[in-house]
Amino acid sequence: MCGIVAYVGDRTAYPILIKGLQRLEYRGYDSAGIALFNSGIHVYKCKGKVKDLQALARDEDVGGSVGMGHTRWATHGEPSDANAHPHRSMHGTFHVVHNGIIENYVHLKKELMNRGYVFYTDTDTEVLANLIEDVYREQEVDAELATRLALTRVVGAYGLVILCEEEPGRLIAARKGSPLVIGIGEHEYFLASDAMPIIEYTDRVVYMNDEEVAVITSESLDLKDLYNDVKTPDIKTIQLHIDSIDKGNYAHFMLKEIHEQAHSVTDTFRGRIAMDESKIFLGGILDVMPRLIEARRIIIVACGTSWHAALVGEYLFEEYARLPVEVEYASEFRYRNPIVDKDDLVIAISQSGETADTLAAIRLVKESGATILGICNVAGSSISRETDAGVYTHAGIEIGVASTKAFTSQITVLAMMAFLLGNKRQALSVEEYRVLIRELTRVPALIAEILAGEEKIREIAALYKEVTNALFLGRGILFPVALEGALKLKEISYIHAEGYPAAEMKHGPIALIDETMPVFVLATSDKLYEKVVSNIQEVKTRKGKVIAVATRGNTDIYKLADHVIEIPPCHEALSPLLAILPWQLLAYHVAVMRGCNVDQPRNLAKSVTVE
Ligand code: G6P
Repeated sequence: MCGIVAYVGDRTAYPILIKGLQRLEYRGYDSAGIALFNSGIHVYKCKGKVKDLQALARDEDVGGSVGMGHTRWATHGEPSDANAHPHRSMHGTFHVVHNGIIENYVHLKKELMNRGYVFYTDTDTEVLANLIEDVYREQEVDAELATRLALTRVVGAYGLVILCEEEPGRLIAARKGSPLVIGIGEHEYFLASDAMPIIEYTDRVVYMNDEEVAVITSESLDLKDLYNDVKTPDIKTIQLHIDSIDKGNYAHFMLKEIHEQAHSVTDTFRGRIAMDESKIFLGGILDVMPRLIEARRIIIVACGTSWHAALVGEYLFEEYARLPVEVEYASEFRYRNPIVDKDDLVIAISQSGETADTLAAIRLVKESGATILGICNVAGSSISRETDAGVYTHAGIEIGVASTKAFTSQITVLAMMAFLLGNKRQALSVEEYRVLIRELTRVPALIAEILAGEEKIREIAALYKEVTNALFLGRGILFPVALEGALKLKEISYIHAEGYPAAEMKHGPIALIDETMPVFVLATSDKLYEKVVSNIQEVKTRKGKVIAVATRGNTDIYKLADHVIEIPPCHEALSPLLAILPWQLLAYHVAVMRGCNVDQPRNLAKSVTVE
């Protein structure tokens, strides 16, 4: 949510910043801007995308080897040229780019207005620029100290980069709640919201911690906390490759990521399953295994698609490890007074590892003594660092805002954890454990088979692309897949869609069904199949259109449904990994046919670092 990139070194900053912003555009894309130190600070910013910013700066002198850029996801103040970052303090001493929300900005703004400050934007960030400037002028301190002093007065979240007109050649950065990564090169440093803009230049990074302030020149990196305690940068090596952030021959990242799933699921279990398929090894949770075996309850916290994966996890842990599970929206959980104790296992699921609510949820339970695990995709992310242990999903970088391959990899990790715990807790026999492992290793080939049938799904998409409402139904372990199918369609095509447990349809949604309403039903051959068939009959009786995902070989379903998408038979535990694929492709093709921006749907951002 909002992307920040900055550079100091001996190269020209502008192309590095522009490329960095393009790589970060998935975090927000309603306005973009840069500030360059080039005999004084020059700012170029506008409403729109990075390409609009490039057009704006085309004929300008964009020299200088120190600068910062920002791509915005609006919180305070509508998208406009004025509200785009960087923001300038009233006297022009400071320029600031910011990711996060300053919660007490109204109070600070009033105070600054009483002191003669005039505001030109609706943003909370301008307040920050003026607050730092006010401290700088009043207390006659340097920019670093002014920043630290000002930030002690701030309530809220920030990832910040600051340029001070009177201190050329240096960047000041600060973090609380919103991520910032520093990249270390030869006589140069990079700064960004995540590693994407950095990996082209260096693999050596430092993840800033909360309440840290960095002062960076081309030759030095000084890290302190807000209270002047010097910190030693903890340099990590990252293993991301530049070709993984390329669309290749695909029209969109989302389509590429959908098609990557046979590989990404393999990558998730690679090295974690014994050659003879008799055992699962999850190195990241080995140390806490005794506590997991003894756990009395699992609480899973997550948001968005990760929350849907958590619901699949509930079925898996209860069925195969016989452990009770509660699944919580992190945003709700964090503001309750949840009862959690040392016998609980709390699992945070997050693709980005930075979602503000999920991070806050695990911070809330830290004192409870519960074991806290992370299931994250981004290595080194805040959630992965703040949990006791965890399992990375290894899905590879996901750029499309609508999550696809991260979802299937999250489910793969949850399945492995559930089977492993089932084995250790003796809820599964040795034979059942083996069968489940073997079935998991078959999944990638089945995924590839389904994806090869894309054309039929595209044809169905063409028939329903104009609808205004859609219903997705599923039961049992496929109910969360119905929720996820509805989310995919609504977030990228802007068609109103709802997911329901099929039997609940009678308690409300059935009133919506007429001949214009498509009902997308998961009707695979599992223990609830007959029940789902009854639900399909109820839809057909009311003239609804039924598009069913069914197990290959089931010919009866053709008599009931208007369209059938076949998927290969698989173990019920793993059926979500297959059943979601048709809905991902359907949503993608409907959105493309409706002319929507698939990779950057309106109002959404990939990484939600504000609450
Ligand atoms: C945003 C993204 C979703 C994602 C959700 C949770 O809404 O657009 O794709 O599922 O955040 O993100 P996380 O990184 O915590 O999985």
